[in-house]
Amino acid sequence: MDTNVQKRRENKKSLRVKVISLGNAEVGKSCIIKRYCEKRFVPKYLATIGIDYGVTKVQVRDREIKVNIFDMAGHPFFYEVRNEFYKDSQGVVLVYDVGLRESFDALDNWLSEMKQEMGSQANMESIVFVVCANKVDLTKRRVVDEGEGRLWAESRGFHYFETSAQSGEGISEMFQAFFSSITDMCENGGKRPVAEVSVGFTKEQADTIRRIRNSKDSWDMLGVKPGATREEVNKAYRKLAVLLHPDKCVAPGSEDAFKAVVNARTSLLKNIK
Ligand code: GTP
Ligand code: MG
Repeated sequence: MDTNVQKRRENKKSLRVKVISLGNAEVGKSCIIKRYCEKRFVPKYLATIGIDYGVTKVQVRDREIKVNIFDMAGHPFFYEVRNEFYKDSQGVVLVYDVGLRESFDALDNWLSEMKQEMGSQANMESIVFVVCANKVDLTKRRVVDEGEGRLWAESRGFHYFETSAQSGEGISEMFQAFFSSITDMCENGGKRPVAEVSVGFTKEQADTIRRIRNSKDSWDMLGVKPGATREEVNKAYRKLAVLLHPDKCVAPGSEDAFKAVVNARTSLLKNIK
């Protein structure tokens, strides 16, 4: 075969991508990568100093993907080192520890830091994100449940996986989906394919479930003022019931949110003349 033709074919088949890991210190970013690349787990905590860099090759369909992994340090101390490395990433692994709520709450800050550092280049639609709810092996200390994590991820069009670097649960599935999506995106001209992470629920539903979870009392949950009339309570209830009814809403956590709304209405109506 003509060597130029052969070379062009090989070039089409091989792909080079850059991925980064983000999340608070000690959530398990380095361990997740180590589990995937070296098939082992290190129980002792060795904080990443600034950045760790590694290369791995993966096969997605007929393509060989050369992956450059930049494993970031989560500690605020390393911000000055980290900020250089956000640019030109095709994929981001966002990690939190299911036993530490602040590490879940911090995901928004990680996205903000990334956007800020990428500046005008920030086109989040051209980046594949995967969220790892890590350390699921430590079931007794878990404080962030699957519904809450999945809702945060999927309402943004991100993948969501429950992982344990310790047992290996979810790790290869997570990376497989991640690299496959990145390849799809590259083949799709650099735009994240919409159908890939099809969510099947609206932003309004996701926001409402989040608001219900965070409400401080029954009035707040229904979105009415304390002292509202029966009519006002029923009206607010009907609106939420239509939005969240389990037959109509497939968003993670919708069933619990729906039940909470039913209970809130019942308890409010008991006390309104
Ligand atoms: P920085 O580099 O400081 O940002 O931290 P990191 O996110 O890279 O955390 P690292 O991977 O170093 O893991 C932190 C600690 O959590 C270590 O003691 C790990 O052994 C432990 N760890 C990581 N993943 C898991 C897990 O899935 N289950 C359990 N039980 N422990 C884990
Ligand atoms: Mg690390």
